[in-house]
Amino acid sequence: MNTTQAQQFWDDLYGERPRIWSGKVNAPLEQRVRDVEPGRVLDLGCGEGGDALWLAERGWAVTAVDISSTALSRAREEADRRGLVVDWVQQDLADPLPPGPFDLVSAQFLQSPVPFARTDVLRRAAAEVAAGGLLLVVGHASGPPWSQHQPDPALMPSAETVLDQLALDPAAWEVVEARDVERTATGPDGQVGELLDSVVLARRR
Ligand SMILES: C[S@@+](CC[C@H](N)C(=O)[O-])C[C@H]1O[C@@H](n2cnc3c(N)ncnc32)[C@H](O)[C@@H]1O
Repeated sequence: MNTTQAQQFWDDLYGERPRIWSGKVNAPLEQRVRDVEPGRVLDLGCGEGGDALWLAERGWAVTAVDISSTALSRAREEADRRGLVVDWVQQDLADPLPPGPFDLVSAQFLQSPVPFARTDVLRRAAAEVAAGGLLLVVGHASGPPWSQHQPDPALMPSAETVLDQLALDPAAWEVVEARDVERTATGPDGQVGELLDSVVLARRR
């Protein structure tokens, strides 16, 4: 799938409704970053900007990348409304990434049903983390129990698998956390169920 087709897929998805995500920061990011001294952050696949805006509000200098111009225009609009400055970058993450060094690289649910070289993106992004900086990769490790269409399990790697895929050099990285975390979530028809999030947090030495 080329960039145009991938962008079309995501623009169509975002175009289905005026808002797709909650607009709030992802809890796994908030819990792990709220006490971190702000610096430069790269948000990979920022969507409608919930994380990027939260980070900017806390004083981070945010570069936020997404392939969907529909999602980014919503994010930009909300930033303007709140008087926040974020460097919004519309690009395919398959292309060269905004250059670091970044004090935090964050990938929150950077998952796609369309073919996407996620491991390669995450490895290149890890290379942009500053000495002493953090890499936080959070993803779905299970499909929603209420969904009739369970996604391909290969698209929902566990934290252990993500860590293997990242292949971080132990001489250069300290793995702070790598585990699957249960989360209670509510489905579109009010169904409540348990989801599994994979969380990998590593600090560059
Ligand atoms: C599941 S959403 C997560 C959005 C956001 N991080 C959040 O947690 O709300 C995945 C995001 O990745 C973006 N994305 C998917 N493939 C991409 C690619 N090749 N390059 C850049 N962004 C991509 C999509 O447009 C979408 O906004």
